[in-house]
Amino acid sequence: MKQGDTILEFKDYCMGFRIDGETYNLIDRLSFTIREGSVLGVVGESGCGKSMTSLSVMRLLPPEAIVQGGGIFFDSEDLLSKTELEMESIRGRDIAMVFQEPMTSLNPVYTVGRQIGEVFKIHRKDMSDEQIHSAVLDLLSRVGISNPGERINQYPHQLSGGMRQRVMIAMAIACSPRLLIADEPTTALDVTIQAQVLELMQELQAQSRGSIMLITHNLGVVAETCDEVIVMYAGRIVEKGLVTHIFDNPSHPYTQGLIASIPTVSGDSDELYSIPGTVPTIEHFTEGCRFAPRCEHRREECSRGVPPVKTVEPDHEIACWVLGGA
Ligand SMILES: Nc1ncnc2c1ncn2[C@@H]1O[C@H](COP(=O)(O)OP(=O)(O)OP(=O)(O)O)[C@@H](O)[C@H]1O
Ligand SMILES: [Mg+2]
Repeated sequence: MKQGDTILEFKDYCMGFRIDGETYNLIDRLSFTIREGSVLGVVGESGCGKSMTSLSVMRLLPPEAIVQGGGIFFDSEDLLSKTELEMESIRGRDIAMVFQEPMTSLNPVYTVGRQIGEVFKIHRKDMSDEQIHSAVLDLLSRVGISNPGERINQYPHQLSGGMRQRVMIAMAIACSPRLLIADEPTTALDVTIQAQVLELMQELQAQSRGSIMLITHNLGVVAETCDEVIVMYAGRIVEKGLVTHIFDNPSHPYTQGLIASIPTVSGDSDELYSIPGTVPTIEHFTEGCRFAPRCEHRREECSRGVPPVKTVEPDHEIACWVLGGA
């Protein structure tokens, strides 16, 4: 694993939502770190709180959301205590984000060149229009778009899905961010293009020793891309460790279920395992272990309270009442 200083740290971070006058917790005591130059994968099924985790870093949570406690530190500074103005200078410059569906994040009425150039206009006031123009051309070719001179004047609808995602990446890496957050950056693309886009993101971040927080449903993507992984279930980390720990020695029943559900090329798809049930919405989280209702190892103590964190091996932890030793 690549070593480096901690660039991002979540410390006992809690957030939830207000529904009909009552507050419900989603993210519960989230603690993890991302090191400089490394790629952290965040996995879990739909509704586990992955996007709320990334939007918390950007301070772009929906208005109904409520931060309930803890801290999020970027370069040792608490992002939660920054003013909106301070956040505006951090977003896009120090921390950038690539979203799932580029069509909703790109503006249909502006050319891609203008939209990428906008990032420089905000963060690099020292650059002239000419310098911006050539920097945009350079970015377009760095993200593998052929004919940048022509593409720069095109509108998002004139590009394919894969190209639009490359444009989003160009915007995100324009200022060489120290942290790139990619929330399901490739699910809208076909498999070959997905692999290309991920590889590209990794390559570009590696060049500038930037870190990546990669949010995905796809464990195959994690295996190929990440150094470390956190597995989230219903707003809590159930397992975290090096990517090799998670695949060679998955130790939480939820991680074991997720890995058993990965389709294999040779496997008989009729026998593909799937974890019974679905992730409940926040109003229906259970007391104690939130995964217990779906867990085949569940025992009485699982409803007792938040599961204890157990060290499976150095740098590899699970939160479980039953597995992982005493
Ligand atoms: N406006 C809201 N009001 C109440 N609860 C909400 C609201 N928005 C999100 N939630 C809660 O947060 C959960 C979704 O969190 P989030 O979007 O972070 O999940 P995710 O892991 O990113 O899922 P996906 O993989 O589908 O993107 C929902 O299941 C719901 O319980
Ligand atoms: Mg999401």
